[in-house]
Amino acid sequence: MTDTVALITGANKGIGLETARQLGARGMTVLVGARDADRGAEAARTLTKEGIDARFISLDVTDDASVTAAAEQIEKDFGRLDVLVNNAGIPSASGRRATPSETSIEDMRAVFEVNVFGLVRVTNAMLPLLRKAPAARIVQVSSEVGSIDATSNPGSPLSAMPASAQYPSSKAAVNMLTAQYAKELADTPIKVNAANPGFTDTEFNGHRGIRPVEQGAEPSVHLATLPDDGPSGVLYGHLWTTEGDGDGGYGTLSW
Ligand SMILES: NC(=O)c1ccc[n+]([C@@H]2O[C@H](COP(=O)([O-])OP(=O)(O)OC[C@H]3O[C@@H](n4cnc5c(N)ncnc54)[C@H](OP(=O)(O)O)[C@@H]3O)[C@@H](O)[C@H]2O)c1
Repeated sequence: MTDTVALITGANKGIGLETARQLGARGMTVLVGARDADRGAEAARTLTKEGIDARFISLDVTDDASVTAAAEQIEKDFGRLDVLVNNAGIPSASGRRATPSETSIEDMRAVFEVNVFGLVRVTNAMLPLLRKAPAARIVQVSSEVGSIDATSNPGSPLSAMPASAQYPSSKAAVNMLTAQYAKELADTPIKVNAANPGFTDTEFNGHRGIRPVEQGAEPSVHLATLPDDGPSGVLYGHLWTTEGDGDGGYGTLSW
């Protein structure tokens, strides 16, 4: 067991698995959160074969009992948590995409259950453990599509995207929650930031994303390993621009 324990939700595939891999490669013990035991155990096995101290932990972010049990397990095994990456997320309810005026409350609620309420449920359950770590880091995996500024700014490539309600508004809520948790925890060593992976090649978008998962995980890893003088309460990650190939590197995004 190492000195630093990191929990990543939705870590059985995609950006979450790669985040676990990169944090594990830095010597952290990584807890591979997954709602499906087979998929989670398989992901942990893959990382273990790569020399990483990885352990599967059963965690469905929409289920109170599952999240409580995960917190109890971490308390029993480690007595604290150094890094929480709230990565689990879904783009839509059962693949149904719609304009705001055509969005059903049922679909909206399904997306918020995972992306927003799940994130609050996990954060609140893990906070007692994060407070026991010397300087914990919380990463809320968000998206540039949750930026109201980028959505409304005609100079941003995001302004040209079709209007939709479920996913962008869920990530806007994640952004505000990040700012509010950072405000509440400002007098503690805990830093809370939101990560923007950029358009990444995963099942999430039918592999249409143009950034490999190695790059998509970089913002989360950066925020999970911030030094003591690093920021809290920012949205950091890939910058999509209208210039050149659209790749603006990394930096802080406007909310
Ligand atoms: N890919 C992109 O272009 C992109 C861009 C910006 C932001 N993001 C964000 O990055 C994060 C990861 O996305 P990704 O692209 O890696 O997607 P992905 O490959 O579809 O992975 C999503 C992960 O979330 C898990 N998950 C879904 N519902 C869950 C629940 N109720 N409890 C626990 N885990 C659950 C999935 O588990 P199962 O395998 O069991 O379904 C899977 O492990 C998401 O928050 C997403 O919004 C992605």
